Amino acid sequence: MSVESNWYQNAIFYQVYPRSFMDSNGDGYGDFQGLISRLDYIRGLGVDCIWLQPTYPSPLRDDGYDISDYKGVYAPFGTIQDFKRLVHEVHARGMRLISDLVINHCSSDHPWFQAARNDPSSKYFDYFVWSDNPKKYAEARIIFVDSQSSNWAYDEKVGKYYWHRFYPTQPDLNFDNPAVREEMKDVLRFWLDLGIDGFRADAVPYLYEREGTNGENLPETHAYLKELRKLMDEEYPGTILLCEANQWPRDVRAYFGDGDEFQLGFHFPLMPRVFMSIGKEDASSLVEILNATPAIPANCQWCTFLRNHDELTLEMVSEEDRQWMWNFYAPDPAMRMNLGIRRRLYPLMENDRRRVELAYSLIFTLPGSPVLYYGDEIGMGDDITQFDRNGVRTPMQWDATKNGGFSTADTTYLPAIRDGRYGYRSVNVAAQSDDPDSNLNRLKRMIEARRASEALGWGKLEWLTSGAPLPVLAYRRTTGGDTVIAVHNLTGESRPSELEAEDGVYQDLLDSGMAVTAESGKLRLTLGPRQFYWLRKVG
Ligand code: NOJ
Repeated sequence: MSVESNWYQNAIFYQVYPRSFMDSNGDGYGDFQGLISRLDYIRGLGVDCIWLQPTYPSPLRDDGYDISDYKGVYAPFGTIQDFKRLVHEVHARGMRLISDLVINHCSSDHPWFQAARNDPSSKYFDYFVWSDNPKKYAEARIIFVDSQSSNWAYDEKVGKYYWHRFYPTQPDLNFDNPAVREEMKDVLRFWLDLGIDGFRADAVPYLYEREGTNGENLPETHAYLKELRKLMDEEYPGTILLCEANQWPRDVRAYFGDGDEFQLGFHFPLMPRVFMSIGKEDASSLVEILNATPAIPANCQWCTFLRNHDELTLEMVSEEDRQWMWNFYAPDPAMRMNLGIRRRLYPLMENDRRRVELAYSLIFTLPGSPVLYYGDEIGMGDDITQFDRNGVRTPMQWDATKNGGFSTADTTYLPAIRDGRYGYRSVNVAAQSDDPDSNLNRLKRMIEARRASEALGWGKLEWLTSGAPLPVLAYRRTTGGDTVIAVHNLTGESRPSELEAEDGVYQDLLDSGMAVTAESGKLRLTLGPRQFYWLRKVG
């Protein structure tokens, strides 16, 4: 398999929440034109592919994940022509663009649901999942535990309950209905015809419901997703599917199929274990989860990440670890949401760059294509006074002017963070661009170093440290022509370390440039507090 055809297996993704990225026309709302004007910035970070969050028409009761028209764009973003132009401009810079595909549910404002509700004899009635009995599918868990007590909502007009895995304003579509399955294929074609490079597929585990199951990862779901992939391979070769399945590794593994379902899948369980490793100064939970992660087909890849637009989910940890994470990283109950933590990266790490960089180092050197969340590259903060998860979706901070340079409007969709440690007057792109030691430039150099190493992108992984606790974590990544040993001191004290390594000279790919020699099969070095090296074998 050629490297070129599998670009996504070693790529840097950048997640754009478009409502808060850049407003070009002063209406307080991010738009396509604004995003276009910032593409050079994104490319300059070393990004290969943009993940653009939903831009469909929506009543915004789940911030756009409640779609009222699958083949349009929400007017404040611009027009379909503007969207096409965006795709063109992304490609012109050698990047790619994937967008969100939300097929499990639509908005209760969608004409399909309105038609179903107004006329149960219409063909759209069967687009949704109805029941007289709200005890049906009782084994399906509730996802939004803070606000929902049932996956059923009663529709007064119809006199029946309808199924929803998320908010009641997001009725689940009925994938047992062949018409729904066809509608969604048309949606895929519509966007792929506009030239996008694929999709981040939202909430895929929940497409089907079956009595006596938890309604997740069902065989019917996999069969349909394989049909989507087949359609893409046949009609739009080279396009990709990234799976959002917040599941244990063995269950996510199933979404790769035999290399014929998703090319990419988020590694949800790894993410909280990066935070646990750093907070507990012990990487054993991280090693354990990666050891429990099955091998994936040769044309697939994991996506690693630290933060995104949702709460930092703690669904994939034990009850005990969840409590530990909440106590350590979310001491104020307002920081907690559902089974997670609604904070951004830098505040989680108390603005301590050593800890932030340790976290980045782990995801950049472990297998997987990293996905960065807009604003984390400069160290943006969060605003926990905002509703739901909006506090981690505030305007991108471009400079020290009004609204952080995001918009000239008096009121923006979400308020920019103005004051304090994370306010745009101090934390912004302009202030960091020319400072070699800024959060932004240091991260850029890490990305560059990662890109420069074939082994970090494609190499096989071997642990060089083992046991528990694991205050120093070291591993080797190797391809035929490249060997890199990544070693991390997770503690706040200096630590000597002795690693098994082939004799020769190793040089840090990162700023230190330090060189160290392995002799008699041992590499000996001392790491400062929370220090890490990416040691490439150079001789
Ligand atoms: C996952 C998305 O990331 C989240 O923001 C959304 O609320 C749910 N899926 C429902 O679409």
